[in-house]
Amino acid sequence: MSKQFAVIGNPIEQSRSPELHHAFAAKTGIDLRYSKRLAPLDGFEASVQDFFAHGGSGMNVTVPFKEQAFAQCQVLTERAKIAKAVNTLWMQDGILHGDNTDGQGLVDAIHALGWSLTQSRILILGAGGATRGVIYPLVQAGAKHIVIANRTLSRAEQLVTDLQQHVPQAELSATALTTLTGEFDLVINATSASLSGETLILPEQLIFHHAYEMAYGKPSSFLDQAKARGIPSSEGFGMLVGQAIEAFSIWNGVKPELKDFL
Ligand code: ATR
Repeated sequence: MSKQFAVIGNPIEQSRSPELHHAFAAKTGIDLRYSKRLAPLDGFEASVQDFFAHGGSGMNVTVPFKEQAFAQCQVLTERAKIAKAVNTLWMQDGILHGDNTDGQGLVDAIHALGWSLTQSRILILGAGGATRGVIYPLVQAGAKHIVIANRTLSRAEQLVTDLQQHVPQAELSATALTTLTGEFDLVINATSASLSGETLILPEQLIFHHAYEMAYGKPSSFLDQAKARGIPSSEGFGMLVGQAIEAFSIWNGVKPELKDFL
């Protein structure tokens, strides 16, 4: 029988994970079936238990359950502990394991674009879960200075306080979105502004050389401004594929090439 995988969330209809994992399986010759699971908002834990009790091999977790998944796991990878969120689950010897592959997905997507992170200076817009999940992998990939800019400054400051201890080799700092200035190799939009159709205005004095929007398939005022300046830019489809590839490789021991699926 083929190995069973699923992505769990609420809502779940929009998820592209099944098509991605079936494409990786076809490329690597692995026999699997990957489905979507809608969990009731108060029924995540029971749904996960049911899936693994019926022989499931691995699950991806999406909105709004990543923090609950983190709380439910008995064993966590270092990057999941730092992210405080889990998007990849598997059972080993009856024990629920969790990882977070979002940050490595972003790093792999940036590398696939041919952009270097070595010794880089990065500005991240937003201080929510999306930002928390990518700091440690970005530093592991070579980022040296990361400024977190947020509409609510105190949230960015809190994130810096929480995360600096985990990345002593890099320098983290916080700023308000309204006082953005300086020069950066890369700006990453990790706010939910594009997802909710809102506009982000980048000040003229902000200088940057690459722009990555974590959202995809949505109009993005952030990307529009980067393009108007002629700056190389990308939306977040590569990150989506990258996090899926990383999960696939944890479960199946084979890592497909990201560039084959962009
Ligand atoms: P996620 O888990 O996707 O990061 P989140 O925790 O709700 O979601 O965080 C959303 C982020 O987008 C926050 O940093 C939020 O800023 P605030 O902390 O000030 O709320 C940011 N954000 C959302 N809409 C925004 C907008 N229109 N302009 C600027 N920042 C915005």
